[in-house]
Amino acid sequence: MERTILEKLPGALLPWYRENKRDLPWRKDRNPYHIWLSEIMLQQTRVEAVKGYYARFLSALPTIEALAACDDDALHKLWEGLGYYSRVRNLKKAAQVIMTDHAGQFPTQYADILALPGIGEYTAGAICSIAFDQPRAAVDGNVLRVVSRILDDATPIDQPAFKAAVRAALEEVYPVQAGDFTQALMELGATVCGPNRQPDCAVCPCKDFCLGYQHNTAEQLPAKSPKKQRKAEDMTVFILSCDGKYAIQKRPDTGLLADLWQFPNVPGHLEAQDALTALEQWSLHPRALHRQVLRKHIFTHIQWQMLGYYLEVAEPAGDFVWMTGSEINATAALPTAFRQFWEEISNV
Ligand code: ADE
Repeated sequence: MERTILEKLPGALLPWYRENKRDLPWRKDRNPYHIWLSEIMLQQTRVEAVKGYYARFLSALPTIEALAACDDDALHKLWEGLGYYSRVRNLKKAAQVIMTDHAGQFPTQYADILALPGIGEYTAGAICSIAFDQPRAAVDGNVLRVVSRILDDATPIDQPAFKAAVRAALEEVYPVQAGDFTQALMELGATVCGPNRQPDCAVCPCKDFCLGYQHNTAEQLPAKSPKKQRKAEDMTVFILSCDGKYAIQKRPDTGLLADLWQFPNVPGHLEAQDALTALEQWSLHPRALHRQVLRKHIFTHIQWQMLGYYLEVAEPAGDFVWMTGSEINATAALPTAFRQFWEEISNV
């Protein structure tokens, strides 16, 4: 990769970052636990969405020791709505490894950090550079976009070999202020050189050496391989109420949304009459069908088309847990796919 261009990055980006960095909660200190948590939360999730979760999580679990000992339901509740729940399960597993194998101290060696559950090259690089100023790159989508524009390189950024080449090339030009450099690259990619819009080249600290700017190709970059279609799955969801309580159940402990809570559901879209028959099979006696709504929820590889039936039943029977709305809110982590049906309940 073009080293003569990339070696100009620290000189251009560090002063720009000092002047322009956003005031974000995880930039207030360099505690590796805090950096780790923020980087895990920020994967696939917007900064604005993360801020509140970050503060709540750290006030509930201020130490790695507290995280390692946290009850799973309480942990899921702290993550409720953030999605990709395996992230938080791995956080706890890694905290337990830190307690047993590292005497409760966050490890400082790249290889030890990379070996922790849920930590890949990106996160290990982010922690090593931001918390410990080690010359390790953290190459996420933002950084790939910045580098492919600066080098005017149309290699699809989802190719693992491209990511590895970017990491190796950046690590050759890392300055001693490694943490600021990592964050400056991310910051440029999140703001001036942001996704899905025209980059704001007029104010970019890299425009003097950016080939994408000079060749007027920046807006078309980065290149990506064609996306695979998401598989669509139909399901019928039952929002069952009885005397102010609602039926919920725990999902299986493996697979999608493992161990979280859900409203009862069956595969396929049932006609209203078949839905009533399904309830009879659960020993439930429907009193009234209030309404039905169609909702969808998108995961990485699957899309759920969810047909929801709002029904009142005669007794809180069946193999379910019956809770009031406030009990659900206080204790059960109901992922967004199901939680979206709550929005309708005030109208039922
Ligand atoms: N996206 C990923 N990591 C980030 C960070 N540390 N600050 C801002 N945005 C980010």
